[in-house]
Amino acid sequence: MVAYVGTAHGIEHGQLTGGFFADWPVRPSSERHLELLRGSYAVELAMDDGKVIGFATATSDGVLSAYIPLLEVLPEYRGRGIGSELMRRLLLRLDGLYMVDLSCDSGVEAFYERFGFRVLDRAMGLRRRERLRRRG
Ligand SMILES: CC(C)(COP(=O)(O)OP(=O)(O)OC[C@H]1O[C@@H](n2cnc3c(N)ncnc32)[C@H](O)[C@@H]1OP(=O)(O)O)[C@@H](O)C(=O)NCCC(=O)NCCS
Repeated sequence: MVAYVGTAHGIEHGQLTGGFFADWPVRPSSERHLELLRGSYAVELAMDDGKVIGFATATSDGVLSAYIPLLEVLPEYRGRGIGSELMRRLLLRLDGLYMVDLSCDSGVEAFYERFGFRVLDRAMGLRRRERLRRRG
């Protein structure tokens, strides 16, 4: 049965199986994955049998704005409402904030529109691929 946890405290990197960051040019190691979970302003994890099978993270100033950099459910668990539940829980954690932004790949807009997100007129981003390679 899938359980939800709102912290990465107590999670070991061995609970982060391979399979996340599926389409990335370089996949972060499970150690680095744990590091980013622990470093996030808010994190929501979906767990099954002691393993993390889905996660969502947010960074924030805690006053007005937040950014959701990552949301992923392992392929074999998709289509069961887990991604939606992670988003619902994460947005509750960000409830008092004015701006919540994210960027997503083409095709995923409809998923986020269910939560009230709208495509903005302009968005810009910097992607430094060499930083992915620095520590695995
Ligand atoms: C996007 C993602 C997190 C959705 O997780 P999930 O657990 O499969 O989502 P849910 O089961 O809660 O889906 C809820 C609804 O959204 C729809 N949906 C799911 N993924 C979608 C997508 N990529 N695009 C559009 N709609 C999507 C589902 O069809 C479902 O609709 P339904 O209720 O009518 O059946 C998952 O597909 C994933 O990890 N994708 C790869 C990483 C990714 O794209 N992350 C988003 C950041 S860009």
